[in-house]
Amino acid sequence: MSTAWQLDSWRNQEIRQVPDYEDAAHLARVEETLRGSPPLVFAGEARTLRSHLARVAQGDAFLLQGGDCAESFAEFRADNIRDTFKVLLQMAVALTFGASCPVVKVGRLAGQFAKPRSAPTETIDGVELPSYRGDIVNDMAFTAESRIPDPERMLRAYNQAAATLNLLRAFAQGGFADLHQLHRWNLDFVKESQQGERYEEMATRIDETLGFMAACGLTSESVPQLRETDFYTSHEALLLVYEQAMTRQDSLTGRWYDTSAHMLWIGDRTRQLDSAHIEFLRGVENPLGLKCGPSLEPEELIQLIDILNPDNEAGRLTLICRMGADQVGDHLPGLIQAVEREGRSVVWSCDPMHGNTVKASTGYKTRPFDLILKEVDAFFDVHRAEGTYAGGVHFEMTGQDVTECIGGAQAITEEALSDRYHTHCDPRLNANQSLELAFQIAERLKRHRDHDAANGSKPGAAVA
Ligand code: TRP
Ligand code: MN
Repeated sequence: MSTAWQLDSWRNQEIRQVPDYEDAAHLARVEETLRGSPPLVFAGEARTLRSHLARVAQGDAFLLQGGDCAESFAEFRADNIRDTFKVLLQMAVALTFGASCPVVKVGRLAGQFAKPRSAPTETIDGVELPSYRGDIVNDMAFTAESRIPDPERMLRAYNQAAATLNLLRAFAQGGFADLHQLHRWNLDFVKESQQGERYEEMATRIDETLGFMAACGLTSESVPQLRETDFYTSHEALLLVYEQAMTRQDSLTGRWYDTSAHMLWIGDRTRQLDSAHIEFLRGVENPLGLKCGPSLEPEELIQLIDILNPDNEAGRLTLICRMGADQVGDHLPGLIQAVEREGRSVVWSCDPMHGNTVKASTGYKTRPFDLILKEVDAFFDVHRAEGTYAGGVHFEMTGQDVTECIGGAQAITEEALSDRYHTHCDPRLNANQSLELAFQIAERLKRHRDHDAANGSKPGAAVA
């Protein structure tokens, strides 16, 4: 890995989680088409996100990253995109207002199609077929035909990502995200619930504040910050043929940017030091995420940071910890201590979803809300004890009224999972549960920030 990076130098490394495309010529044609297609994001935007994340690394902002586990072709509808965006706005506003803290908003959206699998094949009733690797690769239906990796799917994913991103940009900049609209983000099925009412109370208080500001001459017309929000996209950079084809040299700086999304992350299954994924991503300038599971050792983490962020630039690297609620206390302190000892600048973010997946007695893959909350709490506690800043969260969530994770104030039971279990992959928080978590986190952030302000220390500084 010490050799010079090239656009395709990852192809000399060990490639994990790679689909077996049967027709090499077909694959090459698709790559060619993608190379000739317009970029989805522009390098300047990725640089801006990096500067926002640098503020998170310094303890001056909070990262909210969330969206689908896996986007699908079948669920591609404006309503779905709008509703997920609404819930992300609600969460963001709860955090911004509740904790008086700027929030960097990043969706797992507009490109989150490829899925890592625990095994290359799946066997049902004695029939063995290739695993489903996400809609960008093959089809979920359990037939031999469906499971054949089809390069054409990359073009469909690209087009869906482009249309999704277009709608998100319109929402973020076109008036939908105006703070004066915040009552409209409360979804009908959420309104009557405890979380919905809590949200309405907060919205009414913000309205009052906006009324006061308007009387002082600060309106959406005069202050664009009230009317617009910056919203960024991200996904796991798993399917490297697609990511390579979307990577362009920025004419301004001569640097390489993966233009498939603003931010890209490396999964816990593909983060080995010699992996193709690490090799590819070290060479692009986008802000990167690195998933850190319980098997990651402190020394290995430092070696990975050496590779991914050799110049120790703030905002370049976000460590997304996904330990499992009961493992945070054992594994996170060692990682934090190594990073502190080596003086590395990172954003610490918590993914409380992936380490807390269990099988319900009814057979469904689910995640207990209590464990999700417990992991977030443990994450904050450990950072408090280490004197470092818990800078963000990473959720799998949806704006739909699904029943995929058990518990929460709504008290979804194992029996109720079958009511509306729609996910293409992992169980997601529904709108209610997402909002509930955001309120809890906002309270916690506020407590820390108030405490730090009273003690004249930076957020994240140790409690005396
Ligand atoms: N521009 C600010 C921000 O993005 C305020 C803002 C406008 C906002 N619309 C929002 C905050 C929607 C949260 C949600 O933070
Ligand atoms: Mn997932």
